Amino acid sequence: MIFGNKLSVKINFLNKIHFIISKLTFRFKNLFFKSPDQSKQLYNNGYLVQDYSGSIGSIHSISKRVIELFKEKENLELTYENSGLIHLKNSLIHFPELINLLNLKEVRDIICGFLGSDYQIFSSNIYRTTKSIDKENTFSSLYYHFDSMPSSHLKIMIYLHDTDKKNGALKVVNRKKSIELRGKGFWDRKSNQFHEIIKENTKVLEGNKGSFIYFYPHDTIHKATLPEIGNRDIINFILIPSIKSHKKLSKERSQYISNNFFGYCTNPFTF
Ligand SMILES: [Fe+2]
Repeated sequence: MIFGNKLSVKINFLNKIHFIISKLTFRFKNLFFKSPDQSKQLYNNGYLVQDYSGSIGSIHSISKRVIELFKEKENLELTYENSGLIHLKNSLIHFPELINLLNLKEVRDIICGFLGSDYQIFSSNIYRTTKSIDKENTFSSLYYHFDSMPSSHLKIMIYLHDTDKKNGALKVVNRKKSIELRGKGFWDRKSNQFHEIIKENTKVLEGNKGSFIYFYPHDTIHKATLPEIGNRDIINFILIPSIKSHKKLSKERSQYISNNFFGYCTNPFTF
């Protein structure tokens, strides 16, 4: 597994070349850009929790409106409902202001500092995890895993409620340990061989409503957790490097990105 994922050479190659071009373009356009320390923390640990609950007022109204939207079935994608996972369709159509959250200077600097390039949104999802009805038929994110995606992809989650270990906080193993375990053979989500050592090294990413979880899933073992009580609502973006800045999106593009449940970009040159 030379690329650290299970994707084809072609997909990895296209993403790598595109990433290099995006980095060179960014460096050329931003000669005096200095990465903030948070980008380095994200690079070293594979994750970073930033609490913006005090500074981003719109999170509170988004959180309230999400609860309202979840009351209407027509807004929802219910394939995994019995396993405890429900998606809200059309996140960027309901909430065009989500783009502004990713364009806040502080947020942009962390992402650009980490990637060394500009970025665009590959997918935008709002979803709810809830206590599962069907214990047998769980969805695969509940097992410890790496995301099988190109190494240029970054995820950002925004907690829409105060989230702790009892109500569904993300669990992670730091990047260095994760890479070590992948080197020793950890890949299969359901194998028990590495379970103890993974559990010993797990950190629970708790955060207040409005916390941003920056997260590099290619190199960081992680798992979702269902809440023991109540629901957990979350915004989840997959970001990919970009040669151009994409600070605005057309309605058609927003709709497409909001309902893009594909986990990775196969060809960033044509996306
Ligand atoms: Fe994952």
